[in-house]
Amino acid sequence: MKTPITGPAIRMRRLRRNAQVRRLFAETTVELRNLVMPYFIVPGSGVLRESAPNSGLWQVTADRLADEVALLVDAGVGGVMLFGVPDEKCDDGSKLEAQLVPTRKATEALRQRFPELVLFADVCLCSFTAHGHCGIVRDQVIANDESLAVLAKMAVLLGSYGIDFVSPSDMMDGRVAAIRGALDEARLHDVGVLSYAVKMASAFYGPFRDAAHSAPQFGDRKSYQMPAGNRREARREWVLDEAEGADALLVKPALTNLDVIRDVREASDLPIFAYQVSGERAMLVAAAENGLLDYARAMEETLLSIRRAGADVIVSYEARPRALAARGR
Ligand code: PBG
Repeated sequence: MKTPITGPAIRMRRLRRNAQVRRLFAETTVELRNLVMPYFIVPGSGVLRESAPNSGLWQVTADRLADEVALLVDAGVGGVMLFGVPDEKCDDGSKLEAQLVPTRKATEALRQRFPELVLFADVCLCSFTAHGHCGIVRDQVIANDESLAVLAKMAVLLGSYGIDFVSPSDMMDGRVAAIRGALDEARLHDVGVLSYAVKMASAFYGPFRDAAHSAPQFGDRKSYQMPAGNRREARREWVLDEAEGADALLVKPALTNLDVIRDVREASDLPIFAYQVSGERAMLVAAAENGLLDYARAMEETLLSIRRAGADVIVSYEARPRALAARGR
């Protein structure tokens, strides 16, 4: 005799019945160790300020950085990424060493206090030049090969200060190979390269350019950053960077590139980073300020989705507030 059917035999809701059941079966988590916090290093002393009210982008001087970062280290943050923002700009790379003095002091201070804190530093020229482009400019054109030498020099300087992973975000062709070669020549074999392998020419970088003084003064970045619609081209970018010796790959922005993050995850065995950029955060802040959504829940959902897409590590301005909340501040 057949048992009468009383409803669906398979019930998905058994796995969602209460918070403990849901916690047990959670496939993806976002922990502080998965997050890297960016800081904008400005010249001078005594400064720790947000670039604009509630931007979440922190500008800090070298003397204040170690105390600030201590809060994050205590809470277990994955790492810290430094962006040098010099006051004086220079278009040919000849003043790099002077421009990097605050970044050098910041790196040394962090290294001394936290010997094993994982330190990343941006390699790019947009904050260092008056024109705000990511490479050397000749007659209004970004000169790729000339830029490589300057970027490589910047990487070697940062590596010599104690940075663990230099992070080229300039999108010049051949820069991973140029940087790897220059680091090895300088005997900085243990300094790694986190390559911004897939970086789209994006509308989501606005608040960052304000904090980093890096908005292009003419034209745009479309001759070096990628068109957002091109998935095959994205693959060529990360395949190249892997072949050139990158230790880890980064995709950016994060939320608009979840498919690309998944593509990289499935085709590469390198660690994958995603950068939740300034505009992604600003979008949530603005919506929450207008009463349209709950910031904490929406932020958690985006971070979870980025991890689910395949990112091991997320560079996110949310690392700081999360760390402070974890410490009960
Ligand atoms: C520049 C750089 C940018 C970001 C990281 N590195 C901006 C740009 O390309 O214009 C954006 C990060 C963010 O918006 O948070 N090399």
